[in-house]
Formats: sequence, structure tokens, C-alpha cells
Amino acid sequence: MEKSANLLQEKLNGETTIVNLKEETVPNIDAFDNIILGGSVYMGRTQKELMKFAKNNLQKLLEKRVGLFLNCAENTEKKYEQCKNCFPAELYNKAIVKGFFGDEITWEKCSFFHKLIIKKIKKSKESYSNIDMEEIAKFAELMNA
Ligand SMILES: Cc1cc2nc3c(=O)[nH]c(=O)nc-3n(C[C@H](O)[C@H](O)[C@H](O)COP(=O)(O)O)c2cc1C
Repeated sequence: MEKSANLLQEKLNGETTIVNLKEETVPNIDAFDNIILGGSVYMGRTQKELMKFAKNNLQKLLEKRVGLFLNCAENTEKKYEQCKNCFPAELYNKAIVKGFFGDEITWEKCSFFHKLIIKKIKKSKESYSNIDMEEIAKFAELMNA
């Protein structure tokens, strides 16, 4: 997810700030015109810190140009339903762009529990990256417009 955020930042115009909700305090969002929220999907859900941030700041976020993106393996129409479960409904409906940036696994960074699931499903212990650069570029173009 961090990689996607960095790749997206490179394509955005103007001044940008990346905040890791798991590790950093968020600056006052009043100062920002555009806000992009991004996470990754595990068992149909995104990171709890992201869901909490979206819920706690919903009214302010609804007044801004918002983009939402996810790193996820789902690549069919089901990805939209999945995305709806990751963000408050009003924010999902209001977002000017929703992006699905593909999936990757960095084996060394996975928790013990996630490794068990990956071994069962993929029958492999290999890291891989299917990041969709075109989707990131399209997303940035819409945010920059
Ligand atoms: C244990 C596990 C569960 C996952 N569950 C889902 C899921 O429910 N839906 C989906 O689209 N992708 C799912 N994925 C794929 C991840 O969203 C994808 O690998 C993503 O790139 C992980 O990003 P991160 O490593 O930056 O958190 C899952 C991956 C793992 C390892």
C-alpha cells in the first residue's frame, strides 16, 4: 500500500503530504482541498485506522474533493461492493474517483497468520507485485483535473 501511495504521489500536481495513519498524527485537514484515502483489503475489510479516520472526519471530508483507492486482489465488478464495505457510504458515493491499484505480497512483511493463509491459498511463499500503473495514472489524472 505504501508503494502505491508513493507511486501516486509522484503523479499528483501541486503540494502533497502523505500520512501513514498507523504511525503518524494527521495534520489539520482544514488546510487541504483534496484528500485521498487509501488502504489494502484483508478478508473484505481495510485497515481499522483508515475506517476510523473516515468515520471520525466524515463531515469535513464530504466538503472536499475526495479520492479513494484500495490495493486488493479482487478485479471483477465485486471490487466495488468490497470498496463500499471499506468506507462510509456517503463518502463512497461522494468520492470523485475510486481506484483499484492491484495487489502485491511482500512475504517478509506478512504476519504469521497471513503467511498461513497465503500458503494455503497460493501454495507458495513468494513475494509478488501486480501493481496497476495505468490505474494509478488514470486516478492521478482525475484528481489533477
Ligand atoms: C490474508 C490475506 C487476505 C486477503 N483478502 C483479500 C480480500 O478479501 N479481498 C481482496 O480483494 N484482496 C485480498 N487480499 C489481497 C491484498 O489486498 C493484497 O495482497 C494487497 O496488495 C495487500 O497490500 P499490503 O501488503 O500493502 O497491505 C488478501 C491478502 C492476504 C494476504
